[in-house]
Amino acid sequence: MKILVTGGAGFIGSNFIYQQLAYHNDEIVCLDLLTYAGNLSTLDKAAKDNRFKFIKGDIADREFIYGLFAVEKPDIVVNFAAESHVDRSIKMPEIFLQTNIIGTSVLMDACRKYGIKRYHQVSTDEVYGDLPLDRPDLFFTENTPVHASSPYSASKASADLLVQAYYRTYGLPVTISRCSNNYGPYHFPEKLIPLMIINALNDKKLPVYGKGANVRDWLYVEDHCKAIDLIIRKGRSGEIYNIGGHNEKTNLQVVKIILRELNKPESLIDFVTDRPGHDRRYAIDPAKIHMQLGWLPETNFESGIKKTIKWYLENKTWWEEIINGAYKDYYQRMYEKR
Ligand code: NAD
Ligand code: TYD
Repeated sequence: MKILVTGGAGFIGSNFIYQQLAYHNDEIVCLDLLTYAGNLSTLDKAAKDNRFKFIKGDIADREFIYGLFAVEKPDIVVNFAAESHVDRSIKMPEIFLQTNIIGTSVLMDACRKYGIKRYHQVSTDEVYGDLPLDRPDLFFTENTPVHASSPYSASKASADLLVQAYYRTYGLPVTISRCSNNYGPYHFPEKLIPLMIINALNDKKLPVYGKGANVRDWLYVEDHCKAIDLIIRKGRSGEIYNIGGHNEKTNLQVVKIILRELNKPESLIDFVTDRPGHDRRYAIDPAKIHMQLGWLPETNFESGIKKTIKWYLENKTWWEEIINGAYKDYYQRMYEKR
């Protein structure tokens, strides 16, 4: 079987590729535009495997995508490609509409034209909006209405609606997963956990938005990838699956745990102006995927954060090259002579 993984040079897509290569014997084609968030060096080890191929390109470029499908004829498409950072979406929404909505529709049109066994859309719990902080009994289920807050989550929600429409109207075999906040290896240092680890290691201030009271339901990236693996192989077409569960922490708790693990002082915490429209709490009810596919998260936050910090300590070159911008030349260096 051949799996097309879009956005595979990013955080979750790269972890998914490594897990697929380790667990299965399928061919993997990674398509990625290598935006600021894509880093080809992340896929160095995968590139040594002859079941793996990397192609640079834009999911929203129709002609290119049709040409790619005509040649590669993938059986399964897993779409991780997206603009993924809420703060960037507040500053420049258009690219989020282009990649996250138009890109999704182009990929699904190609799936219709060339035929596939499954199109899987990697979505987010942010499409449900947020939950109040004083109602810990409330969780997002697959039946929670879509109610997005940021241009990022609105673009992801729009894409989800299109995926459902392609299922209903054209009978395209699709699945959607909506996960909570991921963390783990290869997480781009603009997001909360890697940013705080790296700033703490460099004795720089840790910018906490507002009072740090917002709650996220942290999902170790390997657990997320295992859930997607189950969905694409055993999940029912047309279904939505929530992924996450019961690893809720306030941002301030997360930052304090990181400082404690790194033996750094809490005086590094800097409370800064809050994010506009900041979602208060995300929390997933994973009952459906647990009952139907037997999935539950295996890594609790306390052990996952230790593994993550260890990875950032052991892979300084990876994030230092991002911080000093050197990773942007990597594609040029790797491919200029090919
Ligand atoms: P990321 O930003 O680390 O990676 C995104 C990848 O997509 C990058 O490699 C980038 O180069 C690529 N890309 C962007 N635009 C492209 C385009 N037009 N064509 C081809 N490639 C393009 O993101 P991530 O954190 O790995 O997230 C992956 C998916 O999971 C996204 O769809 C995101 O919405 C979703 N998600 C992420 C989280 C999280 O906590 N990180 C939580 C819920 C859902
Ligand atoms: P982020 O990693 O951007 O993910 P998301 O907004 O998709 O949940 O942010 C996680 C939480 O951390 C969110 O409540 C915003 C907060 N945050 C900070 O307090 N400081 C920061 O510098 C960043 C990037 C995020």
